[in-house]
Amino acid sequence: MRSRLSNLLREEREEKWYEIQGVSFIREEDRDGPLSDFQTLISATQDGTLYVVSEDVIVDFEGKNYRTLDTRFYVKGDIPGVFYPQQCENPMKLRPKIVNEQPDYLITENGYAKVYVAYGFPAYLPEGFLYSTFGLAKEIAIIWKKIPTQKILTSLETSATRKSRIGGLSDASVVSNIEELINSIREGIDVVCFYLFFVVMDSNRQKLFEKGKELQNTLKAYGMEIESPRFYQSSLYEFKTTLRVFGVDLFTIKKTIADARSMRALFPLIKETFVDEEGVFLGFSGTGDPIVFNPYKRHNYLLLILGETGSGKSMSAKIYMRRLHEKFSIPVYGVDPESEYVAISGYFGSTGINLSEGKPLGLDPLKMGMDRSMISDILSEVYSVPPQMRPRLRKEIFSANSKDIFDFVNSCDRDLKKYLEPILTPPDRLVFEGNPPDMQRPLIFGLRNIRSTNLKILVTSLISIYLGQEMGHAVVFVDEGWLFIKTPRIMSVFENIARRGRKYGLHFIFITQRVEDVASTSEGRTLLEQAATAFLFRQEKEGVGRIRDIYKLSEGEIQYLVQASPGEGILKAGNTKVTIRIAATHEEMARFSTTPAVL
Ligand SMILES: Nc1ncnc2c1ncn2[C@@H]1O[C@H](COP(=O)(O)OP(=O)(O)OP(=O)(O)O)[C@@H](O)[C@H]1O
Ligand SMILES: [Mg+2]
Repeated sequence: MRSRLSNLLREEREEKWYEIQGVSFIREEDRDGPLSDFQTLISATQDGTLYVVSEDVIVDFEGKNYRTLDTRFYVKGDIPGVFYPQQCENPMKLRPKIVNEQPDYLITENGYAKVYVAYGFPAYLPEGFLYSTFGLAKEIAIIWKKIPTQKILTSLETSATRKSRIGGLSDASVVSNIEELINSIREGIDVVCFYLFFVVMDSNRQKLFEKGKELQNTLKAYGMEIESPRFYQSSLYEFKTTLRVFGVDLFTIKKTIADARSMRALFPLIKETFVDEEGVFLGFSGTGDPIVFNPYKRHNYLLLILGETGSGKSMSAKIYMRRLHEKFSIPVYGVDPESEYVAISGYFGSTGINLSEGKPLGLDPLKMGMDRSMISDILSEVYSVPPQMRPRLRKEIFSANSKDIFDFVNSCDRDLKKYLEPILTPPDRLVFEGNPPDMQRPLIFGLRNIRSTNLKILVTSLISIYLGQEMGHAVVFVDEGWLFIKTPRIMSVFENIARRGRKYGLHFIFITQRVEDVASTSEGRTLLEQAATAFLFRQEKEGVGRIRDIYKLSEGEIQYLVQASPGEGILKAGNTKVTIRIAATHEEMARFSTTPAVL
């Protein structure tokens, strides 16, 4: 009974899998961080499995097919918080089942498979070399176990002095040389034994063998030997390292010993393509691979679109939101200071309303039941209530049972009323007066006809507070975000919406030029730093330093950004950075462009 329970518990523990995020590995000077995180991952896990699976993805755009490779990474067990781990289903359950076993290959429900294991390693391997096998091996698995260092130290020392085969470890090969290994152990670096598996798959048997040969040759070029043991293919397919029948080991794969630092060479977490599951097609990367993005796969749902004027921010936002709406039928709400989304709101399933100074807007915060502390903050800021009087305003707002904002202002004492009085007269009065807009249906608010910046700020604040507190699964965008950076309150409303977004399924898109101004306030900086995703378009030379620091861009990337054409830039999501060219369809180009075709 007890053993059944412990079996169950063990199974439960074994079930814990995490998907982790790959990084872009092109620049050598960027590699140290990810490599040392990888070492941490190896060291922190007693009994590790890292599983890499690549998928061919075909994207259709304007009647043409584009092919790319999507690689995903999974680890088993209790792992440290590196590479943005997200708990997930056991990926082993999703592998094709074996239907027939042959001595040197398998027939699965999806085609043919052949498993290879690594048995010979050179003394040196370039970090990241595994990336060159992604197109050939459908799956790669690294299985490792930590070795108690004292145990290994003793046997290593004996073998080092004898300068012969490694004493009790004669069935193992060693990646680093023995002295190096001993030094590492003395420095406190963990030592592991590991196994490396490659699974080649193809729907055609002959191609399967060709791919396998190619994989062997590719690895041979690095000095690494792999083989595909006969008769044990199905056990190897399960990534088993020994096959035990009636207490007898029928076969054991040769293990390899390495210190955690040398394990860096096996760094597989490389992602140079960008294909999110269930995502929307955005455009092409510098390598010509289609880029598919799903905001809900990121660790938060805040997206920034940054670039100088004319760099393609609004156009990209329109293309993206249109495709997002088509894919997920998700309601799209927005603050549109230039009123350029209003006319095309139908593409996002929204209704556009052009607000203007002469028309009652009905944005009475009391009538709309907005959060009272936010109301007090916004009124304080918009009407320049002096700091010493702000607590009083707050108290009054909290205890007010006025039927509307006018009633409230009239009920305030003289000192406070002095500041809030503009609310009672136009144009401000019109912002509050009238019937509130029906926010049950998705709306895009065009502000172009509201000339006063103060009013724009007031209106945007009220709309944003309302959207932030009412919205569930929706997209909320704010274009021309720089208009609001001088109003810290409204920036913190945005920040608040963005922060809670993940919980409510709210995808917040903040679009702005003048990034250095945004970064100059603490609210703006928080927004910039928190975003899981940023589309970076052409930047002004003068202000590019901020972007470089926040998004850790290289000189080459900066050069690229400074010279980029409209719609070209860098997509940064988590650890991944890819260059991107947003691809508009002919229709989108014609409908969404703000540049007049004939001047
Ligand atoms: N992906 C693209 N492909 C081709 N042309 C584009 C693309 N994106 C934008 N453009 C062109 O650049 C013009 C300006 O783009 P857009 O209005 O998006 O700039 P913006 O960054 O929003 O500028 P602003 O800050 O002034 O609002 C578009 O009207 C269009 O003609
Ligand atoms: Mg724009």
